Amino acid sequence: MAQLWGGRFTKDTDELAYAFNASILFDQKFFKQDIEGSKAHVRMLAAQGILTGQESEEILTCLDEICADVESGALAITEEYEDIHSFVEAVLIDRIGDTGKKLHTGRSRNDQVALDMRLYTRLEICYTDLLLKELLETLYKIMEENLDTVMPGFTHLQKAQPVTLAHHVGAYFEMFRRDRGRLHDIYERMNYCPLGAGALAGTTYPLDRELTAKELDFYGPTLNSMDSVSDRDYVIELLSALSTIMMHLSRFCEEIILWNSDEYRFVEIDDAYSTGSSIMPQKKNPDIAELVRGKTGRVYGALVSILTTMKGLPLAYNKDMQEDKELTFDAIDTVKGCLAMFTGMIATMHFHADRMRESAKRGFTNATDAADYLVGRGVPFRDAHGIIGQIVLTCMERGIAIEDLTLEELQTFCPAFEEDVFDAISLDACVDRRLTIGAPGREAMEQALAAQRAYLAEDWPAKEH
Ligand code: ARG
Repeated sequence: MAQLWGGRFTKDTDELAYAFNASILFDQKFFKQDIEGSKAHVRMLAAQGILTGQESEEILTCLDEICADVESGALAITEEYEDIHSFVEAVLIDRIGDTGKKLHTGRSRNDQVALDMRLYTRLEICYTDLLLKELLETLYKIMEENLDTVMPGFTHLQKAQPVTLAHHVGAYFEMFRRDRGRLHDIYERMNYCPLGAGALAGTTYPLDRELTAKELDFYGPTLNSMDSVSDRDYVIELLSALSTIMMHLSRFCEEIILWNSDEYRFVEIDDAYSTGSSIMPQKKNPDIAELVRGKTGRVYGALVSILTTMKGLPLAYNKDMQEDKELTFDAIDTVKGCLAMFTGMIATMHFHADRMRESAKRGFTNATDAADYLVGRGVPFRDAHGIIGQIVLTCMERGIAIEDLTLEELQTFCPAFEEDVFDAISLDACVDRRLTIGAPGREAMEQALAAQRAYLAEDWPAKEH
């Protein structure tokens, strides 16, 4: 078919070259944003006297109809068009004739696609933010219910000191809270309108860029037309933030997979989020957690891909930038899917508090506290460390915990031990004495929860577009 740029060509595009160049298969994803942008452009053209009131009304009505027809399925977006921009314009001209040919006045597909991509990613930032908030609310609930659920805290995947499930989950609360913050920062920086930048050098029409920016809920117009059509920083920033979300989800999934194993049995993933084996009847596998962990790779891939695509591009627009779309769309859909899955999985997951406590007890996680007890009785820390080390060795040989020794036995290692040692090294006491800001002790955790509650009560002021 005739191309919208066909005037200076004497020959049709090679069929394969045409297909190679076309983007309609994926840029149709933002057909609504394309129409929304065109409508703002038309209203501005009318306000500036570049289109008459009647022309703009005719175009606006038809654009709304096209949008409704695509949504209802009455109008199919087909591959005979190069991209979504050509499709909308061609249908418009087909339906209203010559007036439709005025839509593209003072505009290039370069600023048009820059606008569409911004509108699309801006909306997706809002959706992703909502999913993150739901996840944070779920984590908050688990924390609230598990302030006394003692479990081992690990370093090097070796049991280290006792913490609580609330405290462990609270670490992820902080991560996902920062993820939201990153999305908000990106939104603030990207929320400027590139429309009116033209192909690269603005236009000679008296466009009111402030007006289109306002119409489309941007903070204002972008300030350099060459940058406007060639900037994909916000895509890179978004993919970086999405990669970080996936990294956090993946770390949590890794822990859940371990905790769900028979060796740990700290948790049991609900049947609704587990799968079976085709050969081994006893199996219940944590596939959802594994898939979330696995999908992290493709989101990182999108980030590396766009960074590489952009690195050698001279100003201003280059067709290479068309490659930003598929991977970004896929990364956004992947992250949204993973967030929803993950939230459902942990909201229904069962925590085995008794197994966690038992594991903390068996792992000498109170050894530091036992040493601190001796320090409190005047033993220098280095000596106390050595004494407790010897006690641990003995306990390991006998397969018992420090608190299973009698006072007399403890006193054979150091006479400074007294009856109150048992209270001092009980797991609950070890946790509850950790009261500095950010520590797992109950009071400290209650303070943290109060701050998180206040944070969750705030709504992100960004308008939903
Ligand atoms: N499909 C193109 C893209 O995504 C639209 C812009 C085309 N501009 C051009 N000068 N060929 O980048």
